[in-house]
Amino acid sequence: MSGRVSTVAVRYDPYDYAVHEDPYPFYARLRDESPLYYNADHDFWALSRHADVVGAFRDAQRFSSSYGVSLDPEVWGPQADRTTSFLAMDPPRHTRMRALVSRGFTPRRVAELEPHIRELTVRHLGPAADKGTFDFVRDLAAKVPMDVISELVGVPEADREELRRLADLVLHREEGVFDMPPAGQEAALTLSGYYADMIAERRRKPLGDLTSALLDAEIDGDRLTDDEIAGFLFLLIIAGNETTTKLLGSAWYWAWRNPDQRAVPFGDPLRVPDWVEETLRYDTSTQMLARLARAEIPLHGGAIPAGGRVLLLIGSANRDARVFPEADDYRIGRDTSEIASFGFGRHFCLGASLARLESRVVLGELVARVADYDIDAENATRVHSVNVRGFATLPTTVELR
Ligand code: HEM
Repeated sequence: MSGRVSTVAVRYDPYDYAVHEDPYPFYARLRDESPLYYNADHDFWALSRHADVVGAFRDAQRFSSSYGVSLDPEVWGPQADRTTSFLAMDPPRHTRMRALVSRGFTPRRVAELEPHIRELTVRHLGPAADKGTFDFVRDLAAKVPMDVISELVGVPEADREELRRLADLVLHREEGVFDMPPAGQEAALTLSGYYADMIAERRRKPLGDLTSALLDAEIDGDRLTDDEIAGFLFLLIIAGNETTTKLLGSAWYWAWRNPDQRAVPFGDPLRVPDWVEETLRYDTSTQMLARLARAEIPLHGGAIPAGGRVLLLIGSANRDARVFPEADDYRIGRDTSEIASFGFGRHFCLGASLARLESRVVLGELVARVADYDIDAENATRVHSVNVRGFATLPTTVELR
């Protein structure tokens, strides 16, 4: 009936392809109409307002990570730490392991990677840019992050291609399949075996890499076991690979869709970091993370029951106009200090500075070489994943400077 506001209750299903295509209208309705939302089909609660998402991140006591952070049925549960290491731990286990890992994964070690990141970028970008038309994701954005992680942990060059192939299999999902397929499970085992051998080798003969530093890390006589190190190296692939790839693709895409904004970093390379930050806010790669409610949590006139599964909708928090004015506008240079993209509190992304460095270097090299570009949006495809958002393919044509 005309003139009447819709009374159909908002429905949000993270498996729905319409949500993958554009989740933001769903988030807007959740924030306004149902800030404490319950989905009975998949049995989860969802928080969508910035204040609630931040509050939950900071309250590790009630919002526990011990069942992991993913809705995927194969990883949600008390065994989640087997695949995602300390990402799926609460204090005191989390505190101990993060402290030990941080002895090796230092800001200095990250900063020292910069020349290598530049070299890897040039190596992958060169042949692609010379062709003129290439796939931004496959030929560039997917290649650099995995090679950077290999460089960081100390994988020799000769093995990197194979590691990239295995990591792709671990992360790959066919459309409509949400659990890890057998090929992915096999690749995960091979990868773990590779890391176990590498750790044993570094124990015999330490080098200057992160793996050797983790073997060396010690706090009051306590050290990481080989299994713990292997688990952490495996986590790096899951946490640090696809997220950065997708961020790069989204930066390329949204700047193309907003030519006035594209002109900002292309006109002044010093604005590349602003391009990275606004993309992190506007369309971040990790759209949500799950938590387990440890106790009954009253909120917005309702209550999450103890044992409930809660989704923290990061992508929605970043579009909350209560914090970001005209939040649906992509505006490079706005205040992004409150972005939720790397989480908050104890589990704040350990690789945030590396992700930022990689993105700045890759996008900086692009700005230096490319005068203008186009995207074949008709043939671009998105990944279908419950928590990762971004492009699987992004055909692009560049005009070099
Ligand atoms: C754009 C890229 C990235 C995004 C959007 C991102 C996002 C996040 C978020 C939201 C968390 C918090 C998890 C939670 O609270 O449960 C996290 C944790 C983590 N991230 Fe990242 N990340 C990115 C890149 C990286 C990179 C490059 C690395 C390392 C090479 C990395 C390593 C980690 C690790 C180890 C954790 C677990 C920290 C903990 O549980 O204490 N991430 N990341």
